[in-house]
Amino acid sequence: MSSLTTSKAWSALQDHYHHIQNFVLREAFAQDPQRHAKFSLTFNDILFDYSKNRINDETLPLLIALAEQQGLAEKIAAMFSGAAINTTEHRAVLHTALRNRSNRPIYVDGKDVMPDVNRVLAKMRGFCEAVRSGAWKGYTGKTITDVVNIGIGGSGLGPKMVSMTLTPYSTSALKVHYVSNIDQTDIVEKLKPLNPETTLFIVASKIFSTQETMMNATSAKNWFLATAQDPAAVAKHFVAISTHAENVAAFGIDTENMFEFWDWVGGRFSLWSAVGLSIALYIGMDNFEALLEGAYEVDEHFRTAPFAQNIPVIMALLGIWYNNFFDADSHALLPYDQSMRYFADYFQQGDMESNGKSITMDGDKVDYSTGPIIWGQPGTNGQHAFFQLIHQGTKLIPCDFLVAANSHYKLPGHHDILVSNFLAQPEALMRGKTLDEVKRELTPAEGEDHVLVASKVFEGNKPSNSFLCKKMTPKTLGSFLALYEHKIFVQGVIWNINSFDQMGVELGKILAKAILPELQNDAVITSHDSSTNGLINAYKRLKD
Ligand code: F6P
Repeated sequence: MSSLTTSKAWSALQDHYHHIQNFVLREAFAQDPQRHAKFSLTFNDILFDYSKNRINDETLPLLIALAEQQGLAEKIAAMFSGAAINTTEHRAVLHTALRNRSNRPIYVDGKDVMPDVNRVLAKMRGFCEAVRSGAWKGYTGKTITDVVNIGIGGSGLGPKMVSMTLTPYSTSALKVHYVSNIDQTDIVEKLKPLNPETTLFIVASKIFSTQETMMNATSAKNWFLATAQDPAAVAKHFVAISTHAENVAAFGIDTENMFEFWDWVGGRFSLWSAVGLSIALYIGMDNFEALLEGAYEVDEHFRTAPFAQNIPVIMALLGIWYNNFFDADSHALLPYDQSMRYFADYFQQGDMESNGKSITMDGDKVDYSTGPIIWGQPGTNGQHAFFQLIHQGTKLIPCDFLVAANSHYKLPGHHDILVSNFLAQPEALMRGKTLDEVKRELTPAEGEDHVLVASKVFEGNKPSNSFLCKKMTPKTLGSFLALYEHKIFVQGVIWNINSFDQMGVELGKILAKAILPELQNDAVITSHDSSTNGLINAYKRLKD
C-alpha cells in the first residue's frame, strides 16, 4: 500500500466517504437555504458555484487536510519560484512567468527569465502590428489575408481553442487556420481556398522535429513555392516558433523570423508564449495581453489565497473526491458557448497528458486512481447527444457547466434560452425525479406500467460545478484557462506524480518510425506480432 492511501488524511476521507453514503443533495438544499452562499466563490467577474456537490461541512476541511499533508503549499511555491519540479526532465515549470504581468524577477539557474519573456512579447507586438496594419507584405507586395498555424498538441490546440473562443475580438480582416493532422486532408482542405501571395505560415513546434508538423510544413512550403518559385520569398511567408534555433535553421526558416520560447514552458502550457502568435495576429496584441492578464490574476489568487477560498484548489479537491473515493472515471467539461467548442479538446491534452500517469515521483507504481478521462462539448448540443447517460446511466460523471451572462451577439431570444438550459441541467442532475413525482404526472393506466414508471425516474444526486461569468472576454478566458491549469497541477501534487512530462507518447512514435520504411517496399513483413504483420501486409495489398 502506498503512503498516500495509508495516510491519515486519506483514511479520514475514506471514513467520511462511508458516512456520507446516504447524503442526498436535494435534501441538503432543502435543509440549508444558505448552501449556495456557503459553497460559492467569486473571482473578478467569475462566479464559481460548487454547492451541487456531494459535500457537507466536514468534507472540504478533510480534503484540505489531504492537500496540506501532500505539501501543496510548498509545491506551489516551488513551481512559481522556478524550481525544477519536472524531475524526470530536470526542468522548471514556468508558464506562469509568461504571464507574470508584475514583472517581478523569476530565476532559472540563477538567470532572471523576465527580460527574455518581455523581449519576445515586444517582438510579437511589432510583428502583429506590421501584419495586421498591412505594412508586412507578401512577396508580390500584397497584404497578408490568411495565417495558417502548423502545429500539433500544445502547439496547435491552445491557439486554436483561444482564437475560436475569441473570434468576436478579431477586428482586422485577417483570418486564421489551424493545421495539425498528418492526414493530408487537413492541410489540403485548409489550403484549397488560400492564395500563396497573401498567406503567412506559422510553424509552431517546441522541438521543431515533430513528424506531423515537419511534414505539414514541408507540404506548405512546396505549395507556396509551386507558385512563388523563388526560395527567397519564403522569408516573407514563413515564421517559426520554437525552443530550437538549429532545427528551425535546418528546416530553412531564417532565425530572424523565429519567435523563441524556452525549455521551462511545457508544450501543453505554451499558448501563453510565442506559440500564441496566431492568437495575437487574429485578435491583436492588446487582447493577447489581456488574456495574459486574466491568467496572471488567477496565478496570484492561486499563489496567495487560503485553500478554503482558492478556486483551483477546490476544483482539484472535488475532482479527487469523486475520482478516488466515488470511483468516477471521467469528468465532463460543458461550456454553454459555441465558440468554446475546442475547450474540452484542449483540456483533454492539458489534463490527460499531465495526469495520465501511474508512476509516482518516487518511481513507485500507484495503487490509486490518477487522472480522469476528460471529455465534453458545448451545450446545448451535448444535451441532445450524451446527456442521457449522465442523467440515467450507470456511471457517475462529475460535470463542469460554464456560461457567460452576455453573448457577443445580439439575436433576440437565444441567450436566455441557452442560459435556462445551463441552469436546468445541473438542477435536474442534482434533484432527479422521484417515483412519486413520476406517478403524479402519469395517467392511472400509465402509472400501472412499471417499466414506463421506472424509466422515467431520475436518481439525481449527480454532482456538478457551475461557472458563470459576465462575458467571455480575453481576460476572462485567460482566467478560466489558468484555473484549470492549476487544478491539474494540484491533483498531480496530491497523487504525487510528475504532471509535466509525457513519456507515454513516445513508444508509439518510435514504432511508427520503424514501420514507415516497411510500408515503402514490396516485401512481405514478418517482423512484428501476427496482428501488426497482417495489417501491414493487407495495407500493402490494398494500397493503389
Ligand atoms: O506528442 C506529445 C507532444 O510532445 C506534446 O506534449 C506537444 O504538445 C506536442 O507533442 C507537440 O510538440 P512540439 O511542439 O514539440 O511539436
